[in-house]
Amino acid sequence: MLTPPPLSLYVHLPWCVRKCPYCDFNSHGTKGETPFADYIDGLIRDLEFDLPLVWGRTVQTIFFGGGTPSLFAPAFIDDFLQRASARIRIAPEAEVTLETNPGTVEHGPFKGYLAAGVNRLSFGVQSFDDGCLQRLGRIHSSGDVERAIASACDAGYENFNIDLMCALPDQDAAMACHDVERAMAFSPTHLSHYELTLEPNTAFAARPPEGLPSHDDAADIQDACHAMLRAGGFEHYETSAFAKPGQACRHNLNYWQFGDYLGIGAGAHAKITSGAEQHVLRRWKHKHPAMWMAHAGSAAAIGGDEVLKADRLAFDFMLNALRLQDGFPTALFTKRTGLPLTAIAPALSKAVDTGWLLADEARITPTPLGRRFLNDVLGLFI
Ligand SMILES: C[S@@+](CC[C@H](N)C(=O)[O-])C[C@H]1O[C@@H](n2cnc3c(N)ncnc32)[C@H](O)[C@@H]1O
Ligand code: SF4
Repeated sequence: MLTPPPLSLYVHLPWCVRKCPYCDFNSHGTKGETPFADYIDGLIRDLEFDLPLVWGRTVQTIFFGGGTPSLFAPAFIDDFLQRASARIRIAPEAEVTLETNPGTVEHGPFKGYLAAGVNRLSFGVQSFDDGCLQRLGRIHSSGDVERAIASACDAGYENFNIDLMCALPDQDAAMACHDVERAMAFSPTHLSHYELTLEPNTAFAARPPEGLPSHDDAADIQDACHAMLRAGGFEHYETSAFAKPGQACRHNLNYWQFGDYLGIGAGAHAKITSGAEQHVLRRWKHKHPAMWMAHAGSAAAIGGDEVLKADRLAFDFMLNALRLQDGFPTALFTKRTGLPLTAIAPALSKAVDTGWLLADEARITPTPLGRRFLNDVLGLFI
């Protein structure tokens, strides 16, 4: 029996000052006037259109992702949150996160975001080394990062994440660890630590930067940084995510635990469980901002939707849940997919025999080997 899990709301804000050469997110450099107010109107129409999928349910977390959400002044975010909360119930204790590029915030706006109801920030820092920042094509310096985070803390923010990337061109383990040290000095509650990857259809994929560390060196860099984070009191709870005790990102955790989410804005994805229909639906919106805006509020804004069949459901569940360091309670598989555990029994026993997973009545957990070969583990569940 499928019962709807916790519900999140993802809001995509697609513009950036400039496209970074490594980035394959649905983000677009700003050209001319950015239609902020029209975009917010479009978000409200998009939300209204999706409401029948989630009648009566309460939003537990909201995430403004991008792109660069901090390009939107606090008044726009405030306007959106007020109009959204008149249309869907938002839990009073909801986690509300906004992604922030330190190059887009001058002293001041953080008080406005806080007053609007944004209670968590995520800073795209990437590195504190100005040479590395330049080679990544970032629009900010390490000085801008210092000022942005200090200003957010002055405004009253205590709950914030710092995104760092490692295995950067000509970076060694000492440099990457220095970045982690500088980040921890701000006392963030959360740190996301990503290895730079060359994503297809990016400028870096077409012309890789010189000096990228070898695969082995990149693994050593990661190990050194992870050890430092753990020593600094961070719990490694997901492939790339570290949090102080009790401060895991509730929004992302809901994805990884195969919860539900509405996705509004250009290219946003949704995953919704219907108790009445006993199915799980995925829906995604048109990627291009102008195209999405022209149609937001009607079916023409939908890029596609799909009811997940049993095999896809099982695979998607594993794809998310196995990213968690502690895995998942065995019962969660059936609770979220409506499938009996026997649906994955052959793959599960193969993964256990190979030493990739530990499985008992209570829990299924990836082993260190399983985490290292996660793609191979997932291959068993396709
Ligand atoms: C949508 S961006 C975050 C906010 C904002 N757009 C920014 O860049 O400052 C999410 C994060 O993903 C990471 N990321 C993006 N592309 C990546 C890549 N190719 N390899 C590794 N990490 C990447 C970066 O750390 C980035 O901050
Ligand atoms: S600022 Fe963030 S979303 Fe925008 S292009 Fe750079 S990495 Fe991508």
